[in-house]
This record gives sequence, structure tokens and C-alpha cells, in this order.
Amino acid sequence: MKIIIARDYEEMSERAAKIIIDLIKRKPEAVLGLATGATPIRLYQLLVQAYQRGELSFEKVTTFNLDDYVGLNKNSRDSFYSYMHENLFSQVDIRPENINLLDGSASNLTDECLNYERLIKEAGGIDLQLLGIGLDGHIGFAEPGSSFDGRTFVVNLTKSTIETNAKGFIELKQSPTQGITMGPGTIMEAGQILMLANGLHKAPIIHKAFYGPVTEDVPASVLQRHPDCLVILDAAAAGE
Ligand code: F6R
Repeated sequence: MKIIIARDYEEMSERAAKIIIDLIKRKPEAVLGLATGATPIRLYQLLVQAYQRGELSFEKVTTFNLDDYVGLNKNSRDSFYSYMHENLFSQVDIRPENINLLDGSASNLTDECLNYERLIKEAGGIDLQLLGIGLDGHIGFAEPGSSFDGRTFVVNLTKSTIETNAKGFIELKQSPTQGITMGPGTIMEAGQILMLANGLHKAPIIHKAFYGPVTEDVPASVLQRHPDCLVILDAAAAGE
């Protein structure tokens, strides 16, 4: 693994944007694995700005998002589908048919998971998977205890995830208790991993995940075994 410590959130986002922009320039038909949450917001703004400057096109890019909530219609303002449209997809020239998100409102979630794995394979696999990290060490919604071999699956969210995410809801009064997510096994198959983390609150879990033992109790620790994993932290998240 390689760890870069950026000065602050802005530099972390700029470095990440450069990596994604360079990838799309080198490989216009790149397959990107994307994340939601607070961490990549500025990164997405920088990608939109680069597109607006005419530096790159998303026309041939395919995306697969990591996860979404179970039971939430994709058009809900709290769905990760809405987040992605607001922060990236509606502002660039990506083709709607190249956008893939897990549908947590699907009537058959097992089929939804299997279908997602099939679509990733058909796309030739994910070139670069963007990740954030949860305070409990989750990646995607793969919570502590998830098997490292796990593929896309339905998961019961931990108390920590439910409480942390509840703060951000616009419409929802009650936090969803289940998610649908790529598994660690799916994530580990990406050609390249780019993890971002910022803020003092992430310092303890960053230390545990990347300087502690590789254990299913800390899902992100599996990234220590990935042959091409870059972690970009701001100084605060690197504090420990
Ligand atoms: C989001 C996701 C999650 C977040 C993690 C960190 O699609 O998969 O694993 O990356 O919960 O969230 P933030 O960035 O809000 O701290």
C-alpha cells in the first residue's frame, strides 16, 4: 500500500481528482467504482470543473457505485442514486446506460446482487475503485465481520453507521437499517484502489485499518493485501 498525507481536504481532493482525470485521459472507456458520503464531495466538484474546462469526457466511462440503502426508492432524495446525480452524473456527459447503482428497492434483492456482479464482469471489471472508510472500518457498507471473500450482498448496518448517516438525511425521519453493497471480495478485484479519508474523527480507524492486523473485524484492513492501493489522507486523518 502507498499512503500519501495531504495538507488538507482540498489537497487530498485535488490529488484524487488528478488520478481519476489521468486515468480517464489514458483510458476513455475506464470503469470506475464510485463512493458517496461526505469525503468525495470536493473530488466530484473538481471532476465536474475539469469536464467543464473541456479537459476530459465521461462519454465512454462506465460507473458502478458501491452501495445504497435497502428499501429506499432510488428517486428518494436520500438515496445514493440521488447523491450521485446531484454531485456528478447530471453535470457531466456520462451516458445514463453506463451508470450502474444497486437498487435497494428491488423486489428480489438476491437477484439484484447477482445481477450487479454479472454487470461488473461484463464491463471487464473495475479499473479504479474509489473508497471512503466508516468509523467502524467499513468499506462500502461491508461492516465488521463481513467475509473478505464476500460478494455483493444485503447487510445489516451497525449502530455506528446508522447513527453517523442519520445526520445527513433530507427526507427520511428514520435511518434505514439495511444496506446493499459490493462485498470486500468484489472490491478487492478492482485493478486499483483509491481510498480517501479526512478529519480527526477518522484518525483512529485509519491507524487500526492500515497499521493493525488484517482482520475481518476491520473490513478496510483487507486493502493491505491489495497490490495497487493508494490511500490519500489529510493531515488530521493521518494524526495517529
Ligand atoms: C459510501 C460508502 C461508505 C462511505 C463511508 C465514509 O458509498 O460506501 O463506505 O465511504 O461511510 O463516509 P463519509 O465519507 O461520509 O465519512
